[in-house]
Amino acid sequence: EKNIGSVLMFDLQEGLAAGKALDMMEAAPVRGYQHVIAAGSHLTEAMDSQVAIVTAGSVREPGMKREDLFSRNAAVIDEIAPEFRDFAGTVVVATEPVDPMTMRFTAASGLPSSRVLGLGGVLDSTRLRHIIARETGISAENITALVVGRHSAEMIPLREYCRINGVPVEAILGTDAFGRLAEETRRAGDVIVEMAQRASAYYGPSAAAADVAQAIVHDTKRVLSVSTMWTGQYGISGVAMSLPAVVGRGGAERILEPRLDDPQLSLLRASADKLTAITAQA
Ligand code: FUM
Repeated sequence: EKNIGSVLMFDLQEGLAAGKALDMMEAAPVRGYQHVIAAGSHLTEAMDSQVAIVTAGSVREPGMKREDLFSRNAAVIDEIAPEFRDFAGTVVVATEPVDPMTMRFTAASGLPSSRVLGLGGVLDSTRLRHIIARETGISAENITALVVGRHSAEMIPLREYCRINGVPVEAILGTDAFGRLAEETRRAGDVIVEMAQRASAYYGPSAAAADVAQAIVHDTKRVLSVSTMWTGQYGISGVAMSLPAVVGRGGAERILEPRLDDPQLSLLRASADKLTAITAQA
Protein backbone atom coordinates (compact mmCIF):
# COMPACT_ATOMS: atom_id res chain seq x y z
CA GLU A 1 0.00 0.00 0.00
CA LYS A 2 2.90 2.38 0.65
CA ASN A 3 4.54 1.31 -2.60
CA ILE A 4 7.66 0.19 -0.76
CA GLY A 5 8.27 -3.07 -2.62
CA SER A 6 7.43 -6.74 -2.87
CA VAL A 7 6.96 -8.73 0.32
CA LEU A 8 8.03 -12.27 1.12
CA MET A 9 6.43 -13.74 4.24
CA PHE A 10 7.57 -16.65 6.40
CA ASP A 11 5.90 -18.57 9.19
CA LEU A 12 6.70 -21.72 11.10
CA GLN A 13 3.18 -23.01 10.61
CA GLU A 14 3.12 -24.64 7.21
CA GLY A 15 0.79 -22.91 4.77
CA LEU A 16 -0.05 -19.93 7.00
CA ALA A 17 2.18 -17.42 5.18
CA ALA A 18 1.03 -18.73 1.78
CA GLY A 19 -2.62 -18.46 2.77
CA LYS A 20 -2.19 -14.92 4.13
CA ALA A 21 -0.20 -13.85 1.06
CA LEU A 22 -2.91 -15.16 -1.27
CA ASP A 23 -5.62 -13.45 0.78
CA MET A 24 -3.75 -10.12 0.61
CA MET A 25 -3.09 -10.43 -3.13
CA GLU A 26 -6.78 -10.98 -3.72
CA ALA A 27 -7.38 -7.61 -2.03
CA ALA A 28 -4.90 -5.85 -4.35
CA PRO A 29 -7.42 -4.74 -7.00
CA VAL A 30 -9.31 -2.78 -4.35
CA ARG A 31 -6.46 -1.70 -2.10
CA GLY A 32 -4.29 -0.71 -5.03
CA TYR A 33 -0.91 -2.16 -4.17
CA GLN A 34 1.31 -2.77 -7.12
CA HIS A 35 3.86 -5.20 -5.71
CA VAL A 36 3.78 -8.94 -5.14
CA ILE A 37 3.11 -10.46 -1.72
CA ALA A 38 4.21 -14.09 -1.58
CA ALA A 39 5.36 -16.75 0.87
CA GLY A 40 8.90 -18.09 1.10
CA SER A 41 9.94 -21.47 2.40
CA HIS A 42 13.37 -20.64 3.82
CA LEU A 43 14.86 -17.37 5.09
CA THR A 44 17.76 -17.67 2.64
CA GLU A 45 15.28 -16.56 -0.05
CA ALA A 46 14.97 -13.19 1.71
CA MET A 47 18.64 -12.38 2.06
CA ASP A 48 18.78 -9.89 -0.80
CA SER A 49 15.92 -7.87 0.72
CA GLN A 50 16.42 -4.29 1.82
CA VAL A 51 14.38 -4.75 5.00
CA ALA A 52 13.45 -7.73 7.15
CA ILE A 53 10.69 -7.26 9.73
CA VAL A 54 10.90 -9.81 12.53
CA THR A 55 7.61 -10.51 14.30
CA ALA A 56 8.30 -14.14 15.22
CA GLY A 57 7.52 -15.24 18.76
CA SER A 58 4.66 -15.32 21.22
CA VAL A 59 2.48 -12.38 22.21
CA ARG A 60 1.42 -11.52 25.74
CA GLU A 61 -1.64 -12.77 27.49
CA PRO A 62 -3.56 -10.53 29.90
CA GLY A 63 -1.69 -10.05 33.17
CA MET A 64 1.73 -10.62 31.58
CA LYS A 65 4.42 -7.98 31.34
CA ARG A 66 6.37 -7.75 28.11
CA GLU A 67 9.50 -9.04 29.85
CA ASP A 68 7.64 -12.22 30.84
CA LEU A 69 8.08 -13.24 27.19
CA PHE A 70 11.85 -12.89 27.35
CA SER A 71 12.98 -16.50 27.66
CA ARG A 72 10.43 -17.89 25.21
CA ASN A 73 11.06 -15.30 22.53
CA ALA A 74 14.83 -15.12 23.03
CA ALA A 75 14.93 -18.79 21.97
CA VAL A 76 13.09 -17.87 18.76
CA ILE A 77 15.44 -14.96 18.04
CA ASP A 78 18.45 -17.19 18.68
CA GLU A 79 17.20 -19.51 15.94
CA ILE A 80 16.48 -16.79 13.40
CA ALA A 81 19.20 -14.18 13.91
CA PRO A 82 22.24 -16.26 12.84
CA GLU A 83 20.58 -16.67 9.41
CA PHE A 84 21.11 -12.90 8.97
CA ARG A 85 24.88 -12.96 9.47
CA ASP A 86 25.54 -11.87 5.84
CA PHE A 87 22.34 -9.82 5.42
CA ALA A 88 23.08 -6.53 3.67
CA GLY A 89 19.77 -4.86 4.55
CA THR A 90 18.27 -3.60 7.79
CA VAL A 91 16.35 -5.67 10.32
CA VAL A 92 13.34 -4.22 12.14
CA VAL A 93 12.59 -6.15 15.32
CA ALA A 94 8.96 -6.14 16.49
CA THR A 95 9.08 -9.22 18.77
CA GLU A 96 8.43 -8.38 22.42
CA PRO A 97 10.05 -7.46 24.71
CA VAL A 98 11.42 -5.34 21.92
CA ASP A 99 14.50 -3.75 23.51
CA PRO A 100 15.89 -7.04 24.89
CA MET A 101 15.06 -8.75 21.56
CA THR A 102 16.92 -6.00 19.69
CA MET A 103 19.93 -6.63 21.94
CA ARG A 104 19.65 -10.37 21.39
CA PHE A 105 19.22 -10.07 17.63
CA THR A 106 22.18 -7.70 17.30
CA ALA A 107 24.43 -10.07 19.25
CA ALA A 108 23.23 -13.29 17.61
CA SER A 109 23.35 -11.95 14.04
CA GLY A 110 26.64 -10.09 14.30
CA LEU A 111 25.12 -7.26 12.25
CA PRO A 112 26.21 -3.69 12.96
CA SER A 113 23.90 -2.08 15.50
CA SER A 114 22.90 0.59 12.97
CA ARG A 115 21.14 -2.16 10.98
CA VAL A 116 19.09 -3.75 13.76
CA LEU A 117 16.25 -1.42 14.76
CA GLY A 118 13.70 -2.20 17.46
CA LEU A 119 10.16 -0.97 17.00
CA GLY A 120 9.72 0.85 20.30
CA GLY A 121 9.68 4.62 20.28
CA VAL A 122 8.23 4.95 16.79
CA LEU A 123 5.14 2.99 17.87
CA ASP A 124 4.87 4.87 21.17
CA SER A 125 5.27 8.22 19.36
CA THR A 126 2.58 7.24 16.83
CA ARG A 127 0.22 6.34 19.66
CA LEU A 128 0.90 9.64 21.40
CA ARG A 129 0.17 11.51 18.16
CA HIS A 130 -3.19 9.76 17.96
CA ILE A 131 -3.99 10.51 21.59
CA ILE A 132 -3.10 14.22 21.20
CA ALA A 133 -5.18 14.39 17.99
CA ARG A 134 -8.17 12.84 19.74
CA GLU A 135 -7.82 15.14 22.74
CA THR A 136 -7.43 18.37 20.74
CA GLY A 137 -9.68 17.54 17.79
CA ILE A 138 -6.77 18.45 15.47
CA SER A 139 -5.56 16.25 12.61
CA ALA A 140 -2.71 13.89 13.58
CA GLU A 141 -1.04 15.04 10.35
CA ASN A 142 -0.22 18.33 12.10
CA ILE A 143 1.04 16.67 15.27
CA THR A 144 4.59 15.61 16.01
CA ALA A 145 5.44 13.58 19.10
CA LEU A 146 8.59 11.99 20.43
CA VAL A 147 8.84 9.12 22.90
CA VAL A 148 12.25 7.73 23.88
CA GLY A 149 13.63 5.10 26.24
CA ARG A 150 12.46 1.61 27.02
CA HIS A 151 9.29 0.25 25.36
CA SER A 152 7.59 -0.29 28.72
CA ALA A 153 5.92 1.75 31.43
CA GLU A 154 9.29 3.54 31.72
CA MET A 155 9.08 5.08 28.24
CA ILE A 156 9.70 8.83 28.22
CA PRO A 157 7.31 11.05 26.22
CA LEU A 158 9.24 14.28 25.65
CA ARG A 159 6.81 17.14 26.15
CA GLU A 160 8.89 19.84 24.51
CA TYR A 161 9.08 17.79 21.28
CA CYS A 162 5.30 17.25 21.12
CA ARG A 163 3.98 19.99 18.92
CA ILE A 164 1.00 20.99 16.83
CA ASN A 165 2.34 22.79 13.76
CA GLY A 166 5.28 23.92 15.85
CA VAL A 167 3.19 25.07 18.84
CA PRO A 168 4.01 23.14 22.04
CA VAL A 169 1.11 20.83 22.92
CA GLU A 170 1.32 22.03 26.51
CA ALA A 171 0.58 25.58 25.39
CA ILE A 172 -2.73 24.29 24.06
CA LEU A 173 -3.63 21.62 26.59
CA GLY A 174 -1.75 22.64 29.76
CA THR A 175 0.87 20.69 31.70
CA ASP A 176 -1.53 18.47 33.66
CA ALA A 177 -3.31 17.32 30.52
CA PHE A 178 -0.01 16.41 28.87
CA GLY A 179 0.89 14.26 31.88
CA ARG A 180 -2.40 12.40 31.53
CA LEU A 181 -1.87 11.79 27.80
CA ALA A 182 1.69 10.61 28.46
CA GLU A 183 0.36 8.11 30.99
CA GLU A 184 -2.23 6.88 28.50
CA THR A 185 0.58 6.34 25.99
CA ARG A 186 2.59 4.33 28.52
CA ARG A 187 -0.39 2.05 29.05
CA ALA A 188 -1.52 1.83 25.41
CA GLY A 189 -0.07 -1.60 24.57
CA ASP A 190 -1.29 -3.06 27.91
CA VAL A 191 -4.82 -1.77 27.39
CA ILE A 192 -5.10 -3.49 24.00
CA VAL A 193 -3.97 -6.81 25.49
CA GLU A 194 -6.44 -6.39 28.36
CA MET A 195 -9.29 -5.60 25.98
CA ALA A 196 -8.58 -8.13 23.25
CA GLN A 197 -7.59 -10.85 25.77
CA ARG A 198 -6.15 -13.37 23.35
CA ALA A 199 -4.53 -10.93 20.95
CA SER A 200 -1.98 -8.17 21.09
CA ALA A 201 -1.76 -4.90 19.13
CA TYR A 202 -1.21 -5.49 15.40
CA TYR A 203 -2.34 -2.46 13.40
CA GLY A 204 -0.33 0.17 15.30
CA PRO A 205 2.87 -1.91 15.30
CA SER A 206 2.49 -2.85 11.63
CA ALA A 207 1.88 0.78 10.62
CA ALA A 208 4.96 1.81 12.58
CA ALA A 209 7.01 -1.00 10.98
CA ALA A 210 5.87 0.10 7.52
CA ASP A 211 6.91 3.68 8.35
CA VAL A 212 10.41 2.49 9.24
CA ALA A 213 10.58 0.21 6.17
CA GLN A 214 9.59 3.09 3.90
CA ALA A 215 12.29 5.35 5.39
CA ILE A 216 14.90 2.64 4.74
CA VAL A 217 13.85 1.59 1.22
CA HIS A 218 13.19 5.12 -0.03
CA ASP A 219 16.22 6.45 1.88
CA THR A 220 14.12 9.32 3.20
CA LYS A 221 16.35 10.26 6.19
CA ARG A 222 13.26 10.72 8.35
CA VAL A 223 13.84 11.08 12.06
CA LEU A 224 12.16 8.12 13.78
CA SER A 225 12.51 6.92 17.35
CA VAL A 226 14.02 3.44 17.09
CA SER A 227 15.72 1.10 19.51
CA THR A 228 19.39 0.38 18.80
CA MET A 229 22.39 -0.58 20.90
CA TRP A 230 23.67 2.40 22.87
CA THR A 231 27.34 3.23 22.68
CA GLY A 232 27.76 5.92 25.31
CA GLN A 233 24.60 7.97 24.75
CA TYR A 234 23.98 9.86 28.02
CA GLY A 235 26.89 7.82 29.40
CA ILE A 236 25.05 4.49 28.85
CA SER A 237 26.36 1.54 26.80
CA GLY A 238 25.52 -2.09 26.11
CA VAL A 239 21.72 -1.93 26.08
CA ALA A 240 19.15 -1.04 23.40
CA MET A 241 16.55 1.66 23.91
CA SER A 242 14.79 4.09 21.62
CA LEU A 243 16.21 7.42 20.57
CA PRO A 244 15.43 9.55 17.54
CA ALA A 245 17.56 8.43 14.60
CA VAL A 246 18.01 9.54 11.02
CA VAL A 247 16.70 6.50 9.14
CA GLY A 248 17.73 5.75 5.57
CA ARG A 249 19.23 3.03 3.41
CA GLY A 250 21.98 2.47 5.99
CA GLY A 251 19.45 1.87 8.79
CA ALA A 252 19.84 4.18 11.79
CA GLU A 253 22.42 6.38 10.12
CA ARG A 254 22.74 8.88 12.95
CA ILE A 255 21.45 8.75 16.51
CA LEU A 256 20.28 12.03 17.99
CA GLU A 257 20.44 12.87 21.68
CA PRO A 258 17.60 15.20 22.69
CA ARG A 259 18.09 17.34 25.76
CA LEU A 260 16.84 15.52 28.87
CA ASP A 261 16.37 16.69 32.44
CA ASP A 262 17.76 14.96 35.55
CA PRO A 263 14.67 12.84 36.36
CA GLN A 264 14.58 11.62 32.74
CA LEU A 265 18.28 10.74 32.85
CA SER A 266 17.75 8.83 36.09
CA LEU A 267 14.87 6.94 34.53
CA LEU A 268 17.05 6.00 31.55
CA ARG A 269 19.75 4.70 33.88
CA ALA A 270 17.19 2.65 35.79
CA SER A 271 15.83 1.28 32.48
CA ALA A 272 19.35 0.34 31.39
CA ASP A 273 19.87 -1.56 34.67
CA LYS A 274 16.54 -3.32 34.20
CA LEU A 275 17.43 -4.32 30.64
CA THR A 276 20.74 -5.70 31.82
CA ALA A 277 18.89 -7.79 34.42
CA ILE A 278 16.24 -9.02 31.97
CA THR A 279 18.78 -10.06 29.36
CA ALA A 280 20.91 -11.85 31.94
CA GLN A 281 18.13 -14.46 32.26
CA ALA A 282 18.78 -17.82 30.62
O1 FUM B 1 1.77 -7.18 23.81
C1 FUM B 1 2.61 -6.34 23.61
O2 FUM B 1 3.62 -6.34 24.26
C2 FUM B 1 2.36 -5.31 22.63
C3 FUM B 1 3.10 -4.26 22.61
C4 FUM B 1 2.54 -3.00 22.20
O3 FUM B 1 1.51 -2.98 21.56
O4 FUM B 1 3.11 -1.98 22.58
